Amino acid sequence: MKINGRAYGPVTVRDELTMNDFLRERLGLTGTKFGCGAGQCLSCAVIIDDPDGTSHTSPTCIVPAASFNGKSIRTVEGHATNGELTALQRSFIDHFAFQCGYCTAGFLNEGQVLLERLAKTPVARADLEKTIVDAFDGHLCRCTGYFKYHEAVRDVILADPGRYLT
Ligand code: FES
Ligand code: FES
Repeated sequence: MKINGRAYGPVTVRDELTMNDFLRERLGLTGTKFGCGAGQCLSCAVIIDDPDGTSHTSPTCIVPAASFNGKSIRTVEGHATNGELTALQRSFIDHFAFQCGYCTAGFLNEGQVLLERLAKTPVARADLEKTIVDAFDGHLCRCTGYFKYHEAVRDVILADPGRYLT
């Protein structure tokens, strides 16, 4: 499998080893968090890059590591390049869009997927708010910082409307 652009494996894993434990315990990629452990909060979500050029997020806490065999994924550690933060990472910081930060990697991954989707398929400005709310649906923040996350991704989109909006 490929993780953050780097090939891993082949490795042998137990059938019951979750992807969350594989990332955190075997690879030391602890930016991916373990929250509910039940597929309900998405704090553990990573990006899966599909062969057709699209991407989506997947929880890792309830998914076996073996099912990621052959896939290309990105974790929160894979966003910045040579220490240069992405526009979304900078916006999260500018908006102080996190409190304890436990849910942040999941929101960042989802927000990045949204930006990449809109760059391919822009939406009307009038539909932007619903698009953002729908994109983050399922991500729970126990610190209730939803508004700041929405504000942060909205700012990135509005800073480059020709790219993300029709
Ligand atoms: S920790 Fe995976 S969905 Fe909550
Ligand atoms: S910032 Fe604490 S859980 Fe979201």
